[in-house]
Amino acid sequence: MRSRKVALLAALISALACAPVDGPRQSVERGDGAPPSASAPAAAMPGAPGIGDTDFPKDGNGGYDVSHYDIAIRYTPATKRLDGVTTIQAAATQALSSFNLDLSGLDVRQVTVDDTPATYTRQGDELTVRPARPIGNSSRFAVKVSYSGVPEPAKDQGNLGTYGFVPTADGAFVASEPNGSKTWFPANDHPADKAAFDFTITVPAGVTALANGEMVGQPTTAGGKTTYRWRERNPMVTYLATATLGKFELRQGRTPAGIANLAAADPRFKSSLDRLYTTTAEVTDHWTTVFGPYPFGSTGGVVDDYAAGYALENQTKPLYGGFDPGESIIVHELAHQWFGNSLSIRRWKDLWLNEGFATYAEWLWSEHKGRRTAEAIFTQYHSRPATDPIWKYPPGRARPDDLFNQSVYSRGAMTLHALRKAVGDQTFFQLLKQWAADHRYGHVTTDEFVALSERLSGKELDALFDAWLFQPRRPS
Ligand code: ARG
Ligand code: ZN
Repeated sequence: MRSRKVALLAALISALACAPVDGPRQSVERGDGAPPSASAPAAAMPGAPGIGDTDFPKDGNGGYDVSHYDIAIRYTPATKRLDGVTTIQAAATQALSSFNLDLSGLDVRQVTVDDTPATYTRQGDELTVRPARPIGNSSRFAVKVSYSGVPEPAKDQGNLGTYGFVPTADGAFVASEPNGSKTWFPANDHPADKAAFDFTITVPAGVTALANGEMVGQPTTAGGKTTYRWRERNPMVTYLATATLGKFELRQGRTPAGIANLAAADPRFKSSLDRLYTTTAEVTDHWTTVFGPYPFGSTGGVVDDYAAGYALENQTKPLYGGFDPGESIIVHELAHQWFGNSLSIRRWKDLWLNEGFATYAEWLWSEHKGRRTAEAIFTQYHSRPATDPIWKYPPGRARPDDLFNQSVYSRGAMTLHALRKAVGDQTFFQLLKQWAADHRYGHVTTDEFVALSERLSGKELDALFDAWLFQPRRPS
């Protein structure tokens, strides 16, 4: 009897809280003369629908900063249906009357803020949440979103291909750069806001779930379903979050230097597994000698059978989309663990700080292996004719309609080689380590990299960076 009454009361409260938005609370925001109550700061305003990246005006949101995502999903490959409950811990950076999350498709069933039902509206990929009471500036709050539906990957933006949560025959391929996380969980979906992540993933028994970080406990099976728990305790941007699902062959152990290593391959790529495992180990250990300590709790890689046409440096577990990864792409994705993942960009225009560095890492690897030197590779690129498109696209300002242009990769790498020649090997390699150490788990901008280069070298380097990063012509 008693619990029945409690349930009725709860239903009543939630019905009241979900009532149309012009309840009494509204007077606070409308400023129509009603005195604000003591607990409702009069200055509460809606958070901005974007985080402030003018190239991607709707990506991310304003007014709060996320510290933790708890993502609990159930997924059934046969029906492609996803049921999710995502709980976000955040701190307000202004007094908030409402705030947005990014979410694309999927049906929202309920939203609570600090366990109290909140009203919400949806428009495009924006989910606007209006808590029962405004949130004070600097207050911590927890927003829980219950949702379900058939996830639709993102695929309509220029030359990004298909990304986000991509259903496959046996599960899902999940690679979300630049803004596909909203296809499977509500998020502040922009790299300027990093957070720790916990994943609880329930799939039919026989399906493996691979998320970021390390497994928590052992998977548990009941009623034909297996639940996996994964935790990434280090800060991570949303686009690196993954829950790649399917049938996988696994190999796990440690690198020679002692870093936990997990390789996974779809049965179709079973023959890739051992090489993926050993190359990942060797490369991860090598990069620690060049870039400094490995930033995360484990390394690894996943080969899935979805032909994405690209790989993504998912934190701790780069994902290779439908091909047997060769050494240089493994080298590239693992270099991103430092440059892109531990050090993240605040604005997409600075993408060369990810891709130029990871591409230069490929050149360094070639040199390390006694194959072509970075200088030889640089010279080959530099000798491309002045009419080559690489010279028209300044890599220091990645374009929103062509983010992953080859210039961002190759001319970005050439910029680093030009810098190396200008400052000398000793300063250059000291700079790589210092850069990674100074901004470990944080954010970076091009200006900060230029400043550190000048400080360590004692040289004026504006002209060099300007020619290589910002001019629409071939540097001499
Ligand atoms: N960062 C990835 C790499 O370096 C590329 C991701 C491309 N994303 C996409 N949606 N096509 O290899
Ligand atoms: Zn890359």
